[in-house]
Amino acid sequence: MRTFDALDDSGGGHCSPLQLKRRELTMPPTPNSSLYFDVLPRDAPKLQDCFSCTDTMIDLQSVPLSGGILVETIACSLDPYMRNRMRPVNEPGDMPAFPLGEVLNGFSVGVVIRSETTDFAAGQHVYGFMPYRKYNVFGACDGASVSTPMGTLKILANPYNLPWRYFVGILGMSGQTAYYGLKDVSDPKPGETIFVSAAAGAVGQVVVQLAKAMGLRVIASCGSIEKEKMLKKLGADHVINRHTSSISEELKKYGPIDIYFDNVGGATLEAAISSAAMNARFRIKIEALVVTDWHEKYAEEFYDVMQQKVASGEIKYREHVYCGLKHGGQGMADLMTGKNIGKAVIVLDGKWLS
Ligand SMILES: NC(=O)c1ccc[n+]([C@@H]2O[C@H](COP(=O)([O-])OP(=O)(O)OC[C@H]3O[C@@H](n4cnc5c(N)ncnc54)[C@H](OP(=O)(O)O)[C@@H]3O)[C@@H](O)[C@H]2O)c1
Repeated sequence: MRTFDALDDSGGGHCSPLQLKRRELTMPPTPNSSLYFDVLPRDAPKLQDCFSCTDTMIDLQSVPLSGGILVETIACSLDPYMRNRMRPVNEPGDMPAFPLGEVLNGFSVGVVIRSETTDFAAGQHVYGFMPYRKYNVFGACDGASVSTPMGTLKILANPYNLPWRYFVGILGMSGQTAYYGLKDVSDPKPGETIFVSAAAGAVGQVVVQLAKAMGLRVIASCGSIEKEKMLKKLGADHVINRHTSSISEELKKYGPIDIYFDNVGGATLEAAISSAAMNARFRIKIEALVVTDWHEKYAEEFYDVMQQKVASGEIKYREHVYCGLKHGGQGMADLMTGKNIGKAVIVLDGKWLS
């Protein structure tokens, strides 16, 4: 059972009763869908059953902004780290748990449709942590221009006019992880061999292409024939299907490896360790904080370089798009079972797909 929250309040601030009446007549309230986290995965038969999507109503013209902004969400990211947030709130973890019965949150991109602060203007596009809800109000708060569930919103520049949803994928955390992780941690040299797991996923597909462009020999693993084909097209020198071949046997044949870009851990990591060349370098830290730690050093360069590479077609980008928040639960379940090909993303409305 959902109750109406502040966003559903169609009170009109300083409007006169006549103005309010006129607005009611001209602007009917708009449905505002939200993706809720309802059940812990251990208590649900399937991961998709842990979520529900519910519409409330919002008056976009008159919803109070309290000195902040009203943002229409364009796209919400689906990421593996979110699985760790689906735990009881009293269990500690790197990131706060998702409270049961509340709207999910995570990396999102949106467009400002009204603003009461000089820090943001209507029409600007913003990126950051937002509730997975079609329309969000971020009120003003002390010390920061607006208050979001975690951190601040970044105003995006899009010089090549790329689809805005890319900013939660190849131009967001996934691309940044690939770029920073390969460039900084992996320190690759032409001629070296890199092994990339979950290589057809959001991070992996970017690592494969950047590594090829740097002159590396790329071994890629994935979980389906379609992904194998995609990775061969992207230039991987050898592709391992983890369901039909033994990763350790294949690495014995095609290794040793100098760098392992680990996207999955577990048995694949063990197989990679046993195929390491002398002085191999592995990315074994898998946490969102790592990517944010590199922003100061590389974010500006990342946006310059990656936007240009994507716009020119030098780097290809494949997405697995779920259109509408109501498909978010299924998207999460697919991600955890490897059904996504490319970056898993929820696009809120078909109008953002062109
Ligand atoms: N360090 C950081 O700051 C940072 C930032 C972002 C992401 N990451 C990490 O990078 C990794 C990749 O993220 P992503 O967004 O690119 O996800 P993704 O690769 O798009 O999706 C996850 C993939 O993992 C594979 N997989 C799922 N279950 C598996 C299992 N039991 N064993 C082996 N493989 C399994 C599946 O691919 P196949 O079936 O094709 O193998 C699935 O498609 C994740 O571990 C994520 O947490 C780290």
